[in-house]
Amino acid sequence: MKLNIVTYPNKILRTKLKKVDNFNNPKLDKIIKEMKKAMIKYDGIGLAANQVDLNIRLVVVNTENGPQAFFNPCIKKKSLLKQKFDEGCLSFPEITGFVTRSKKITLEYQNEKGNKKKIEAKNLMATVFQHELDHINGIVFTDKIKKFTAGENKFKELKAQARDDEK
Ligand code: CO
Repeated sequence: MKLNIVTYPNKILRTKLKKVDNFNNPKLDKIIKEMKKAMIKYDGIGLAANQVDLNIRLVVVNTENGPQAFFNPCIKKKSLLKQKFDEGCLSFPEITGFVTRSKKITLEYQNEKGNKKKIEAKNLMATVFQHELDHINGIVFTDKIKKFTAGENKFKELKAQARDDEK
């Protein structure tokens, strides 16, 4: 299996992904392995399944404990306290910008065996999870950029191209 990174304006980036129910599917192990590999190869901190053209609620994140898979993740709590990070995304090469998100979150998810887990994340990791959770709901970080730090014109061109494709 070879996974390729999907870039904007591919429509799957606007798709709300499907819940994973069957954790006995032998394909999942392979998908997790390949997604982790792709994330590391392209120097990302997180990767959502639609970024590799898969319609399942799965994200991989390079946590403090190394790359980890999160199935059906859901944010249960968000701090009112916000933070701003200069974000980028593997699906938007050379485009970066400041996004404001909660500084601390509580996340529920299922691990690769389907077991329910709960973790807290703060600072950079909180931003990464919120960015990835947006992906699996069809939301991209450029929807939330307050101020671009690179590639604003490139983004505008891609956006215009996306509108032309819909005509
Ligand atoms: Co992204």
